[in-house]
Amino acid sequence: MKEKKVIVSLKGISKTYDNDVKVVKNIDLDIYEGEFLTILGASGCGKTTTLRMIAGFEDVSSGDICIDGSSVIGVPPYKRQVNTAFQSYALFPHLSVYDNIAYGLKVKKVSKAEIHERVSHMLSLIRLDGYEKRKPAQLSGGQKQRVSIARALINNPKVLLLDEPLGALDLNLRKQMQLELKTMQKKLGITFIYITHDQEEALTMSDRIAVMHKGILEQVCSPKELYMKPKTKYVAEFIGESNIFEGVVKDRNSDNCTVAIESGNILCSGDGYVAGQMVYVCIRPEKVRITRKAGSGNSLPAEIKEQIFTGNMMKHIAVLSNGHEIKIADIASYNDINIGDKVYLEWDAKDAVMIKNPTSPMAENFDTLRGVQ
Ligand SMILES: Nc1ncnc2c1ncn2[C@@H]1O[C@H](COP(=O)(O)OP(=O)(O)OP(=O)(O)O)[C@@H](O)[C@H]1O
Ligand SMILES: [Mg+2]
Repeated sequence: MKEKKVIVSLKGISKTYDNDVKVVKNIDLDIYEGEFLTILGASGCGKTTTLRMIAGFEDVSSGDICIDGSSVIGVPPYKRQVNTAFQSYALFPHLSVYDNIAYGLKVKKVSKAEIHERVSHMLSLIRLDGYEKRKPAQLSGGQKQRVSIARALINNPKVLLLDEPLGALDLNLRKQMQLELKTMQKKLGITFIYITHDQEEALTMSDRIAVMHKGILEQVCSPKELYMKPKTKYVAEFIGESNIFEGVVKDRNSDNCTVAIESGNILCSGDGYVAGQMVYVCIRPEKVRITRKAGSGNSLPAEIKEQIFTGNMMKHIAVLSNGHEIKIADIASYNDINIGDKVYLEWDAKDAVMIKNPTSPMAENFDTLRGVQ
């Protein structure tokens, strides 16, 4: 298989603004050629700051950024092989769609014939043939967004930086544009570094997602791995719905660990854990099964407290003996289970994912916990 080439490399970059608050903290990240990499995180976590440092609009306080193998520290934005498409389109209102897209080439004094050919190609790529004479004010939000992306793409950048480009669009258009952007990116083979705070958008579009939280990267991996194997409690709670238990490792064999939680012992999957270690366990709602009788594996008694029917599934909320609420998403038990029913909750050990607890790594009262049954 062809070696993947690193196109953008962030090496221990940090950013401290004038107010002395460190908003990006020692980030390491390699982004590969042709990749769709999304930086996902809540408002204020440092996404735009990171993107602006890559683009060159903001200096790094420490660390290095390499684009295509060379450091770009001190290199002005227009000399970096990246282009940026912003949420606020930034189109020239007095210029036509054609002239907006052609602008970068005109500045570079490209010949009229070549400009015509390249703009025509872009117009068909963004499916706006026939719109070239319109002014931005005569376009819809989605059309403006596409022009703004075409304007960034026409310079053939190695990397396109996109800061919440679909943020201003309504949900339907947003979903349509997500697919269009993804198709465009694959067709052109350009690296996209894409910012969003919308987890669903990140999961649908990305090859890899970097989850950012308070200036650090919590986890960088494929969307599937992020959902199936969250590495931190923050990621487990931020991506999708989850049930999280706090517990301590009692025992381990080659395949599984037994973890003591408040309501009993459960079997979990996870490598590299030792007895006495404090952990979190994450179980997704669709991995929990409801049964009438106690099972032999992971089986906790509970009472059904609430049910929400969503058409394709039933969402239940069940309460364990200690009051802990468990979310269950079920497509099988429409008719059989009712509010107030006493049931058992089961899941497979492989679906109970262990997560390290960094604040208190080892249990202080482990001997007492050993006795938990
Ligand atoms: N020029 C600046 N001077 C001082 N602080 C700033 C400056 N720009 C951003 N910040 C602060 O840095 C932090 C990160 O901001 P940033 O814009 O990178 O967040 P973000 O993740 O893009 O958020 P959002 O999703 O809301 O766009 C915030 O706390 C913000 O207030
Ligand atoms: Mg931002």
